[in-house]
Amino acid sequence: MASTSLRLGVLGSGKGSNYRAIQDVIDRGELAAETVIVISDVETAGILDHARSHGIRAEYLVPGKFRTKLEPEAEARLVQLLQEAKVDLVVLAGYMRMVKTPLLEAFPGKIINIHPSLLPAFPGLEAWKQALVAGAEKTGCTVHYVDAGMDTGEIIAQREVPVFADDTPETLHARIQMAEHILYPEVIAKFAKS
Ligand code: GRF
Repeated sequence: MASTSLRLGVLGSGKGSNYRAIQDVIDRGELAAETVIVISDVETAGILDHARSHGIRAEYLVPGKFRTKLEPEAEARLVQLLQEAKVDLVVLAGYMRMVKTPLLEAFPGKIINIHPSLLPAFPGLEAWKQALVAGAEKTGCTVHYVDAGMDTGEIIAQREVPVFADDTPETLHARIQMAEHILYPEVIAKFAKS
């Protein structure tokens, strides 16, 4: 089984609830994949703690001086880590930096992201707040391929959630995250079967 399972490299900057949801499905034996490395640009990110506590290789990558992208040396190190780990699919799970050419070229068609809206609506930061401000009646989440733009890559799958009149940013974000935790493992399962 291990020799045929999809090798995931997960990148995240935050608490890692999506990564946990994916790992739970793997641990239950319901997804023929294994997380071979988790990488974060935030040293204290919960996603690294969770990986370490599950015996999964977790690496902090010093991002350098930019806020929205890695320094070229850090991006090169990122590519090196993923290639050395023989990653088949790069899974962005709350990774808060733009992906640049070296990584895109090293893993063409093999980098996916989850975004908390029904793209192309509400790209960028705090998409759930954007949905509330716009008065949307529904929103959701999208898994898409990553390209050089901000949440612009080809859409793979979406899951809708309703917006309720009494929603706050927190309640809406929590409802979207519940949908994310179902959608992301489902999409990865499709990659595992292809
Ligand atoms: C998710 O809402 C995802 O859509 C966005 O970043 C958030 C990450 O949350 N890209 P978590 O770290 O997986 O809990």
